Amino acid sequence: MADKNEWGSNLSFILAMIGSAVGLGNIWRYPYVLYSNGGGAFYIPYIVAILLMGIPFLILEYGVGYNFKSSFAKAARKINSKCEYLGWFLPVAVFMIMIYYSAILGWDGIYIVLSFFKGWGANPDAFFATTLLQSSESFTGLFNFIPVIAIAMLVGWIIIWFISHRDLEAGLGKVSKVLVPALFIIMVIIVIFSLTLPGASIGLAELFNPDWSLLGHFEIWMAAFGQIVFSLSLGMSIAFTYASYTKDDADLITNTISIALANSLFENFAALGVFSILGYMSLQSGTAVSELVTQGTGLVFVVYPTVFNVLGQWAYVLGPLFFLTVYLAGLTSILSTVEPLSFSIQNKFGHSRSKTMTMLIIVGTCISMIYATAFGGTLLGFVDTFINQIALLFGVVVECIIFAWIFKAEKLIDFLNSKSKTITLGKWWLLIVKYILPIFISIIWIGGMFDVVRSCSFEQMIFTIASAVILLVATLIFTILPAKNPEWNNTEERV
Ligand code: PFF
Repeated sequence: MADKNEWGSNLSFILAMIGSAVGLGNIWRYPYVLYSNGGGAFYIPYIVAILLMGIPFLILEYGVGYNFKSSFAKAARKINSKCEYLGWFLPVAVFMIMIYYSAILGWDGIYIVLSFFKGWGANPDAFFATTLLQSSESFTGLFNFIPVIAIAMLVGWIIIWFISHRDLEAGLGKVSKVLVPALFIIMVIIVIFSLTLPGASIGLAELFNPDWSLLGHFEIWMAAFGQIVFSLSLGMSIAFTYASYTKDDADLITNTISIALANSLFENFAALGVFSILGYMSLQSGTAVSELVTQGTGLVFVVYPTVFNVLGQWAYVLGPLFFLTVYLAGLTSILSTVEPLSFSIQNKFGHSRSKTMTMLIIVGTCISMIYATAFGGTLLGFVDTFINQIALLFGVVVECIIFAWIFKAEKLIDFLNSKSKTITLGKWWLLIVKYILPIFISIIWIGGMFDVVRSCSFEQMIFTIASAVILLVATLIFTILPAKNPEWNNTEERV
């Protein structure tokens, strides 16, 4: 029988990994990034980013995770005892993502219900910002609690607990095998329907109209690399943890290629759907696509409901399907964000998977209620920017250095090649993971920091500093607490 923390099959591993990668980033971020960075011309930096960074880095992260068959914190400590702090840093940062992702999942849950009767009314913008979120940009909004959001978030947390506290295969493995294919099937239905809408071609022409001149601009290369880091959840200790759960016979190189392909397929499909629908809206309203297009919550909770309002009866089918897709994509991603911290805690303190998950989910639920206040939406934006543009990218650079240089990536080559049924690694791979990747990701990181500092308001600065302090202190606490599991110092290596 499989261990509590072991995949039942390679299929569970691949599908869970695709579930983690395919998330809100594919639906609400990618179409906009593609559009605003040269349209069709963006495919050149995008493909380069996948080949040069996505696949090589994922292979490295998988390889090291597989080698240790233990949690991220435990492995970091084994590589070098001074690295334990970083071993906790990424899992804690990813757990912070979980906490705010739960709010977006909650909002989307509410929209699934509303979509059956277009409950957002004639003005979706005002409904989302004022009626539902009661958005306030002032701290005092923290004292205005919004029960309906809290209830929707609680429903999400209960679903997460139900899946995550079980043994890995019985929970996450089984659920991924159902939800990930379901997600792809629903997306295909949405896209086929969207392509048949009048005006779809207007949106698609706008989307793919290549602006080759942008290829010479640094920003579009950065945008492509940034999108791949986020979309594939690279270097976030998730891929590491999932690979450490595999049995002894995994072909990690081929798995990586399948996962990167599935992720790109999904996001490009999403872009077709989003832009066909925007083209339809443009035709109906006479507004240019460029004025309709947006990303993030604005796209999902404002633009889409606006489109559904003019879509007539079909909206009662397309609306629920669309919000369900967002929910499933979010759910399969959020499930992955608790695994690195949970496994690290199990390893250091000797608690069972079930107990650790229950504790973390209770803590996550309590903290997440801060997002069920009128200040929640604004706060979410601040924390998201801090985590994605500053904390995670920093972690990714350091992880790359620790894995490629201190652990020594060359140790993995023979083993990975011996299992591979597709490509094999050579010197080119070492060149990428040791030199090109750390340099490139550092550049994206510095660029992101500049962006944040340049456009930061006073409130944002305060909450960014507060988030940083929380992250650093929580990481420190996990690092200095004494281990309770005698196995903590015994780390076997498979390669
Ligand atoms: N890869 C996910 C997406 O594209 O939406 C986002 C994500 C999930 C980022 C989990 C980070 C993470 F830890």
